[in-house]
Amino acid sequence: MRRKVTRAIFPVAGLGTRFLPATKSIPKEIMTLIDRPLIQYAIDEARAAGITEFVFVTSRGKSALEDYFDHSSELESLLRRRGKNDLLEMLRATDMESGAIAYVRQHQALGLGHAVWCARRLIADDEPVAVILTDDVIMGEPPCLQQMIEAHHDTGGTMVATMEVPTAQTQNYGVLDVAEDMGAVVRVGGMVEKPKSDPPSNLAVIGRYILAPTVLRNLNALREGAGGEIQLTDAIADDIAAGRDVFGLRFRGQRFDCGSKAGFLQATVAFGLARDDLSGEFSEFLHDIVAARRAAE
Ligand code: G1P
Repeated sequence: MRRKVTRAIFPVAGLGTRFLPATKSIPKEIMTLIDRPLIQYAIDEARAAGITEFVFVTSRGKSALEDYFDHSSELESLLRRRGKNDLLEMLRATDMESGAIAYVRQHQALGLGHAVWCARRLIADDEPVAVILTDDVIMGEPPCLQQMIEAHHDTGGTMVATMEVPTAQTQNYGVLDVAEDMGAVVRVGGMVEKPKSDPPSNLAVIGRYILAPTVLRNLNALREGAGGEIQLTDAIADDIAAGRDVFGLRFRGQRFDCGSKAGFLQATVAFGLARDDLSGEFSEFLHDIVAARRAAE
């Protein structure tokens, strides 16, 4: 029997400089896509996949993120008194069971691999663990991590989410060297972080991982990789070199890079159009504004 994946690591220590000045006083994970902070999308996706314990790797200036998960008893009693049951229910859906979240600090920004390594003491030695990068918001049904957990049930090993990107963009991602293409699932023969030239394929790693326990152990080497940072990609590549199984899943769904302004805007449009309470008015507005721009050209 495979051990169930019940824990997820959320590296949320990044400074969010691409969203300055907004991120001067709020963590980027609290920035809202319509009416929910980015972190809520990640948590909902994790929960849908059966994750029950959440490890946040934070840094200075992230206290608003920790507060977000506290029960807001004043707000709850106010809503109860006013009979706002729908809002009350929505708020309750964001509540976390006491003890379900743990926070560890990453004291220096040494890279994604280092951030994941900071969580090592909270993960059992023989336990596979999920990692979710909140910048990557994925619209998919079932949600991406659930698709991965289902695929991982058959494959075991380590699994990363992957999608095709244009060659010119491969330098922004971890890129897979495909050993065997089985359709939705690929067996990975190597991985390169942000290749400057000659990417091994067009399959980019997207921010969802299920890591075998050995990957966490590989991180103990704390070896510098691309950009002088300790890379998660390298720790996974070490597992491949040691003959262990690593797979990529071409997930079904649309991914938005909410770490970039353009990606955040695109996500806002797509999620807005997907919302029953907004889509009518919003699509009319989009249609009109695009038509007006075209006419002016
Ligand atoms: C990180 C990973 C990279 C992955 C990307 C997905 O890079 O290091 O392998 O492809 O996330 O979003 P970052 O975007 O944090 O530089």
